[in-house]
Amino acid sequence: MSIVIENLKEAIMGESTAKAKYKFFAEKAYDENYPEIAHLFEAISTAEAVHIKNHMKALTLLTGVEIKIENFVDVNEEALKKTVKDTKSNLIDAIKGETYETKQMYKDFVKNAKKEENEVAELSFMLARKAEKVHANLFKKYLKQLEKNQKIDKQKIYVCQICGNVEFEEAPLVCPVCDHTQKFFKEI
Ligand SMILES: [Fe+2]
Ligand SMILES: [Fe+2]
Repeated sequence: MSIVIENLKEAIMGESTAKAKYKFFAEKAYDENYPEIAHLFEAISTAEAVHIKNHMKALTLLTGVEIKIENFVDVNEEALKKTVKDTKSNLIDAIKGETYETKQMYKDFVKNAKKEENEVAELSFMLARKAEKVHANLFKKYLKQLEKNQKIDKQKIYVCQICGNVEFEEAPLVCPVCDHTQKFFKEI
């Protein structure tokens, strides 16, 4: 069995969990009257959906058959809801997850894909890894502001539909993560 297939499935599972979790974190942030933090959680939730789509494509190409996501992804939303804490703790949890994905999980997965000479999976992992780093930094920025009791300004948030990169205020002419043009950014 190819390790890359296993890695793709694990990544899809992880991204699906993050996508669902961030939606709950967004609800909590709205409840606690942090609409801008809620907005960021919502935007990054859609960015994780981009990673799921890319990994699913790679998995289909690699296996040659259309694999249904429901066959191996089962996110227990009720259990996940119970892990929701206050917004500060949720930001810390999100930073931890994004950092693990950048520094460990995707780092290993990129290596494995290289070893198996699977360029499609390698690209999918590499783009996700770079985007997760951006996600971690944005969460860190908001955590700092929250800790200092600073007002968080209302921002426009754009998500690259090719790689899941997230940009504030204006979509760049060229995505710094995947090199695609501005038209691939969607405002969330
Ligand atoms: Fe992320
Ligand atoms: Fe991009």
